[in-house]
Amino acid sequence: MTSPDEAASFDGERIGPVRPRRLRRTGALRGMVREHHVRREDLILPLFACPGTNVRHEIDAMPGVAQMSIDLLVEECRSAAGLGVAAVILFGIPPHKDAEGSPGYDPQGIVPRAIGAIKEAGLDDLLVIADVCLCEYTDHGHCGVIHESAAGAEVDNDRTVELLVRESLVYAASGADIIAPSDMMDGRVGRIRTGLDEAGHNDIPIMAYAAKYASAFYGPFREAAGSAPQFGDRRGYQMDPPNVREAMLEISLDLDEGADIIMVKPALAYLDVLRAARQRFDVPLAAYNVSGEYAMIKAAAQQGWIDEVRVRDEVLVSIKRAGADMILTYFAKDVARTL
Ligand code: PBG
Repeated sequence: MTSPDEAASFDGERIGPVRPRRLRRTGALRGMVREHHVRREDLILPLFACPGTNVRHEIDAMPGVAQMSIDLLVEECRSAAGLGVAAVILFGIPPHKDAEGSPGYDPQGIVPRAIGAIKEAGLDDLLVIADVCLCEYTDHGHCGVIHESAAGAEVDNDRTVELLVRESLVYAASGADIIAPSDMMDGRVGRIRTGLDEAGHNDIPIMAYAAKYASAFYGPFREAAGSAPQFGDRRGYQMDPPNVREAMLEISLDLDEGADIIMVKPALAYLDVLRAARQRFDVPLAAYNVSGEYAMIKAAAQQGWIDEVRVRDEVLVSIKRAGADMILTYFAKDVARTL
């Protein structure tokens, strides 16, 4: 065994031994030298808007998360804003669905009405992000419209993109601060950017779900958003989990097409992808701490097997350490309360 004194004599120039524990002795010292922080400004809270009034439908696999009718959702936004949460991102549960996902681009649809109500509440510091996808609005649960090809039923990329543009325009017109396409169709960021600009919304940023993987960690979300595919899976459009070079390609395409903020999703099993994106692209980077990541912590904590607060905080700071600037997380309010 070498003593700390011997171990520290590494370059012959330093006077005295290096004892890293000196800076860990007290909370004040640890705080002063802490390298990464989760800040309120980093936090984005996902919310699920459903029809009705005074409706709160809890999601089994996501304790503390619920579908909310617009009246309750506005109160949830007020409370998030009061805690200093930076933004909410909205998903919609429409009263009915169809093959073309038309409730998703209905100007009177659930999300446009929710945006309008939040804006009317005058929560000026709270950004409203609109998730753009068709999976909550199609009766088959896929992220776009289906066509039959030789290989069977497939999502039609280019027809879907046109509908995503319509959806984006509806959300922008109803007051969304940021448009966030999560569908993984090719070329959608560019078409949405052009569409927004032509409609006079050149000031509305796009947060692109740029590297979004076909992940089993979305399981609980599909219950929350009622968006589980009725046949097949999403591997024909979301990314294959083992790939990282391809993530860099997806991100650079989205940036070329005009994305302002890029996202990696999920976060935890993809911290290396976040790090690679951080090193390569000098733009704001978001990470989505997804439903399955939340559910695992909640479930283990409910069993008394882990300490929820400490595990939560450790996980969230790992996402910052990997390189994210902002985090979409169902823990946003809980964490903001402690900051
Ligand atoms: C919609 C969408 C999904 C999530 C966010 N937007 C689900 C999916 O792609 O199946 C997942 C979020 C989560 O799991 O928390 N395309």
